[in-house]
Amino acid sequence: MRVNNHKPHHSFQSSARVINQARPFRVLLANAKGGCGKTTLATNIASHFASQGEGTALIDYDPQGSSSDWLSARNSNAANITGIAAFKNQHLNTTRSYALRVPATTTRIVIDTPAGLTGHGLSDMIQASDLIIIPVIPSSIDIRAATRFIKDVLLSPSYRTRKKPIAVVANRVKKNTLIYQKLERFLNSLNIPFIASFRDTQQYVRASEHGLGLADYAQKDNKDRLEWLPMIAWLEQQIRLQNKFLKK
Ligand SMILES: Nc1ncnc2c1ncn2[C@@H]1O[C@H](COP(=O)(O)OP(=O)(O)O)[C@@H](O)[C@H]1O
Ligand SMILES: [Mg+2]
Repeated sequence: MRVNNHKPHHSFQSSARVINQARPFRVLLANAKGGCGKTTLATNIASHFASQGEGTALIDYDPQGSSSDWLSARNSNAANITGIAAFKNQHLNTTRSYALRVPATTTRIVIDTPAGLTGHGLSDMIQASDLIIIPVIPSSIDIRAATRFIKDVLLSPSYRTRKKPIAVVANRVKKNTLIYQKLERFLNSLNIPFIASFRDTQQYVRASEHGLGLADYAQKDNKDRLEWLPMIAWLEQQIRLQNKFLKK
């Protein structure tokens, strides 16, 4: 695969876009269970926004720093993403302060979160986001954990105060397996949209080693990019709806 060589369309020097600009749209990737794909989705969503010319910031709240590591490996030819290692800095560890730290040209913020997020920590993260995506992998343990986590989200004080779009995605799926069918039944039974399924493939692992996402590759009809289209479409639709609402 070939990496797109285009430069980011935005520039931190230009203030033209700042005027008339709504505040950045914030996408939260969360699930108390580790290993379900939060970082993989966060980095790929960030690379999607960046490749669209959006001023993109990736905020890493996981002390393991996987999103930050991903960004450090990213080549300067790839579309620019601003990284914030929020876990490193105690006083940044309140979700409200990061908004002050992103460049003024930021239009999209993607937030990666640690495993084990519950209670006040979860409620704070939800409060500081506009939309939540919950990845789930096909495993009985993960399905049970997702049931609890979704309940936690829906019952959290911040969500109850201000509802926002939530969706689930299936990750690392092997179609035609019984456990995937079980996951599919579970996700379809929820009262929140089940927007996409991503197959289990080393593509994500390889891309992540180079700080790349699927959007950074030139090949547009790649099988995995096609799998991403429904999620991207849903995401962009929610952003449009919110911007329309804010303009009123
Ligand atoms: N669709 C996928 N196919 C293959 N490997 C994946 C896929 N999604 C994630 N992985 C790998 O699984 C591991 C856990 O994913 P990660 O995104 O780090 O989960 P989390 O951030 O929720 O802990 C990583 O090594 C990642 O590269
Ligand atoms: Mg992670």
